Amino acid sequence: MSLLAPGRNIVLIGLMGAGKSTVGRRVAGRLQRPFIDTDAMVAKAAGTSVAEVFETHGEREFRRLEAAAVRRVAALRGQVIAVGGGAVLDPANSTQLRATGDLVLLDGEPEALAARIRDTASRPLLQGESPARRLAELRRERGAVYAAAATTTIDTTGHSLAEVADAVVEWARTQPGLLSRDEADA
Ligand code: S3P
Repeated sequence: MSLLAPGRNIVLIGLMGAGKSTVGRRVAGRLQRPFIDTDAMVAKAAGTSVAEVFETHGEREFRRLEAAAVRRVAALRGQVIAVGGGAVLDPANSTQLRATGDLVLLDGEPEALAARIRDTASRPLLQGESPARRLAELRRERGAVYAAAATTTIDTTGHSLAEVADAVVEWARTQPGLLSRDEADA
């Protein structure tokens, strides 16, 4: 982590299967920043999995825990953060994340997103129908909100997640104040 004034947070947003966590971990490794995943924070706070929270307590309770996680991470600086696909649908979450970070939308064709999701059992919103079809529906419903929240959009279709991570780092280097001085010089 930077010893100089930390940069702004890099926040990865987008649908399930966009690669937010994998890309986030890689970007954090390249910049030597901490990586935080709000789904993991929710699971830790609840003492169980995201799927279990949905099943036992419902989506409302999940969103409440998610908003609490967002509040905590948005108070930090110099982090790489992956938020769950629904987090920025709540304008309060979006406003808080944007106050301390730049939001990178990882987009992709529904088939490309679906192909990355091996474990649909852990995705409560992908139960009971073709993941690609459901993802197409969610992309139609959420696309405008994602685009409005995002500082930039990266299309992941046809790209490996390593390539996507490289693209995020390259973009970050062009953004004044996003990286700390030593990160930018590295
Ligand atoms: C959700 C996405 C999931 C998780 C929850 C709800 C959504 O996170 O937060 O199942 O509303 O899109 P990932 O996008 O990390 O899979």
